Amino acid sequence: MHKLFFRILSDVSKRTFSTKISVPVAKEDVKLPTVLTDLFGRNHTYLRISLTEKCNLRCKYCMPAEGVKLTENSKLLTTDEVLKIAELFVKEGVTKIRLTGGEPTIRRDLVDIIYNLKKIDGLQIVAMTTNGLVLTKQLVSLQKAGLDILNVSLDTLKPERYEVMARRKGWQRVMMGIDLAFQLGYNPVKINCVMMKDFNDDEICDFVELTRDKNFDVRFIEYMPFTGNKWDVKKMVSYKDMVNKIRQKWPDFSPLENNPNDTSKAWKVPGYEGQIGFITSMSDHFCGSCNRLRITADGNLKVCLFGNTEVSLRDAIRNKCSDDDLTALISAAVKRKKKQHAGMMNISQMANRPMILIGG
Ligand code: GTP
Ligand code: 5AD
Ligand code: SF4
Repeated sequence: MHKLFFRILSDVSKRTFSTKISVPVAKEDVKLPTVLTDLFGRNHTYLRISLTEKCNLRCKYCMPAEGVKLTENSKLLTTDEVLKIAELFVKEGVTKIRLTGGEPTIRRDLVDIIYNLKKIDGLQIVAMTTNGLVLTKQLVSLQKAGLDILNVSLDTLKPERYEVMARRKGWQRVMMGIDLAFQLGYNPVKINCVMMKDFNDDEICDFVELTRDKNFDVRFIEYMPFTGNKWDVKKMVSYKDMVNKIRQKWPDFSPLENNPNDTSKAWKVPGYEGQIGFITSMSDHFCGSCNRLRITADGNLKVCLFGNTEVSLRDAIRNKCSDDDLTALISAAVKRKKKQHAGMMNISQMANRPMILIGG
């Protein structure tokens, strides 16, 4: 294990060295390659850090019914390791960090982590994606610590359906959490809604209706395959089908401009306060503009949501790697990132982690 690790490192150092000597003289219009730029010119400024493998729900699209084998605590990143990794990435150009899980609010030192992340010079945004279950208890402290942006998962507006999907109760608490988020000034509140055929696709228009008077940004996500989630193309509702359904009720439902690295395609019912987004990972991937890297709770750098090659930054740190060698390791992994994912049918056959162990 150690031998392999150091072999990778020495490969990396060689490559980095040759990159250094072949860099052309900078012209004003030529962008120099950076540690976080891949071979397709994508510059990664957005890091998603998973803080825990645990969750207080059991959503069917995310984890197998039998649960997942959890990594022992000693192998999860400590607070100091999370902060060290964050600092390294920010030094190389990351400006936004999103905390994920499992469910990030399960992590006891979450407030501390946010507070310390906010002290990193150059980091502009600290965001979090949560299932919303404990926001009424935690959001005030999280906001005080500096949490800038909040995305909440909500797949149904029917409490009894929620219990079927999440295999737990909690819909009312999530709704109260969302309400509190608005009261505390999170604006918009982004809602992530995984659309599944014959499960919640009859609620599309109800979700759109939420945007009438309030600045919700409801994002419908195409159901994606992960290990153990029993994905089936027949359960997926495509972007096109969703738009068609909404247009039957609102013929003037129209697309908006998007920011270059958005995961979602924005649309709106004219005159409505909020907006709708579609995360079309399956039917119309957005790999070309991907600016995201991921750190799993056990400390692996994962350069693509649907790629199974990972590099252990935890081991590198615990083996007392220098910051330069860590940076070289990160750079080499980024340079190996593929142009795009392999297509939904291939992904569904491929070994990956269950979603709960990635963090979205
Ligand atoms: P914003 O920063 O608010 O745009 O949120 P986000 O979409 O980056 O993050 P969020 O955690 O809310 O994720 C919403 C959905 O987008 C989840 O289903 C993620 O799995 C998916 N998603 C996030 N990043 C990627 C990505 O790099 N590739 C793909 N295919 N899907 C992604
Ligand atoms: N397909 C699409 N989205 C998913 N998420 C979790 N599992 C899946 C899946 N199989 C979403 C959650 C959460 C976000 C991080 O990822 O709903 O909002
Ligand atoms: Fe938990 Fe989120 Fe996965 Fe649901 S989708 S089981 S809330 S991590």
